[in-house]
Amino acid sequence: SMLALVSLFSFSVLVSAEIGGGAFPMTGPPPRGGPTTPPANGWGVYTPQSYPDSISDFAACQMPGESFLCDPNRILDGNVTEAHRQLDHSLNSIRSTTQCACTAADANFGVCKGEGGYTVSLALVDKIALDANNDNKVDRINAAMKFANTLRGIQDRGQCDDDILVFLSREDQVMWTSTGDVAGRALTVELINEVTLNAETYFVRGEYTAGLSYTLDKYGQILRGEQVDLTPPSGWYWPFPLWAVITIGVVLGLVALALLALSIYGCTRCCCTEKDEYQMGTRM
Ligand SMILES: *[C@@H]1O[C@H](CO)[C@@H](O)[C@H](O)[C@H]1NC(C)=O
Repeated sequence: SMLALVSLFSFSVLVSAEIGGGAFPMTGPPPRGGPTTPPANGWGVYTPQSYPDSISDFAACQMPGESFLCDPNRILDGNVTEAHRQLDHSLNSIRSTTQCACTAADANFGVCKGEGGYTVSLALVDKIALDANNDNKVDRINAAMKFANTLRGIQDRGQCDDDILVFLSREDQVMWTSTGDVAGRALTVELINEVTLNAETYFVRGEYTAGLSYTLDKYGQILRGEQVDLTPPSGWYWPFPLWAVITIGVVLGLVALALLALSIYGCTRCCCTEKDEYQMGTRM
């Protein structure tokens, strides 16, 4: 059992080293999801006004038909076609499985048109247009917020300000969710922040498809009024740094090894003594 203990320690040290790889969101250099492919429609960097509409101009959004997903720069990782199909399905399913939230009090925003519930759109870019001297983390977050709010206003896909737009810029390492007033009653700022922080666990590893899937999954559960589990996905979330855990793990492993060696030594001595006594006993 001592041996099992030692291997358990070494295993946990190895596992924690593996999981800790993507440790602290936003501290490393922005990971690139493969070689930069020139955008199909010639726009490298978008503004909300130049961004294609995924319903009227789905080809520019790299989609085979009308969609709530737009990925003109093809920033998704893995099998991009499959990623598009999967995310498009998630967006459609949120719309068909939620209830229209417009009440009589929201009448000046609009009324339910029998088009399903919340409309969530997903807009992806490689990079937001920013001034060269206005390109720090705070500027990028502000730019993403402005981009998302403006684009949601232009597309105007809700029934009564119940639309949601999730915007992600790969190079800027930022995701921003813009909600209409009515949608914001269900998908609150607190919930958005929690989901976004969790999704960053995927984004820092360059797993944009998985991070966006996670985000849409959670938003769907929240908007359907289901119980939602917001414990962070696998990643390093302990309040002390990884190196400390590895050091403690190694020290504990050494202690366990020393105990093992001691117990083997003790056992052999113990056996020998018994043998001696037995031999002495027979001689008498
Ligand atoms: C990518 O996904 C599509 C759609 O699911 C599939 O038809 C295609 O074979 C996949 N390509 C690769 C290289 O796996």
